[in-house]
Amino acid sequence: MQRDRQNYVYCGEYIRNSCLELIAYEIGEFDIKGSVAELGVFQGDFARLINAAFPGRKLYLFDTFEGFDDRDVNEGKEKGVADNYQDWSNTSVELVLKKMPYPKDCIVRKGFFPETASGVDDTFSFASIDCDLYAPILAGLRWFYDRLVPGGSLMIHDYNNDEYPGTKQAVREFCAEFGLPYFQMVDAAGSAVITKAR
Ligand SMILES: C[S@@+](CC[C@H](N)C(=O)[O-])C[C@H]1O[C@@H](n2cnc3c(N)ncnc32)[C@H](O)[C@@H]1O
Repeated sequence: MQRDRQNYVYCGEYIRNSCLELIAYEIGEFDIKGSVAELGVFQGDFARLINAAFPGRKLYLFDTFEGFDDRDVNEGKEKGVADNYQDWSNTSVELVLKKMPYPKDCIVRKGFFPETASGVDDTFSFASIDCDLYAPILAGLRWFYDRLVPGGSLMIHDYNNDEYPGTKQAVREFCAEFGLPYFQMVDAAGSAVITKAR
């Protein structure tokens, strides 16, 4: 279904950023342990806010830093998912790290996810999954939910973005498989949030 969400776009980033802030407060107030992460960093504008909201926690940054990988594009096309294939290659690790308030807490995993998750032995209190396409979103949900501590949250960007229907498909498939509820945010991209029961 094509929907016109223009009225919501102007305050969308405020909502996304404020939700991150409130989730971070909640995690702090309940003393929920665990690292934080973003899968799909691009130029680091949201990762910077994650780093600021979670001082003292390790922040994993997963991205090719070269845009989409052909394996994901092909998998989506084979499945008939009508995702938009934008160019996200205009970035670099250096550019991203320069924006971070606490760069020493950042662990960069450059390359194709989930291959770049190999050898990461950690648990997570928060992860932003913002990699647009069906295949890496589903892989990210599987990998992070397994390592999410009780009370931790996953924020999945683009759930209600008609340009990236693969996101909704991946979230619905994953949540149906494990009987998980999710919440829809009213930010510009209509993000979804999955919180593990405490
Ligand atoms: C929409 S951009 C991220 C925007 C960023 N989160 C922000 O809010 O500014 C999507 C990113 O996902 C990355 N990406 C997509 N599939 C990936 C994969 N399989 N492994 C690593 N990075 C991937 C792309 O390289 C791109 O930088």
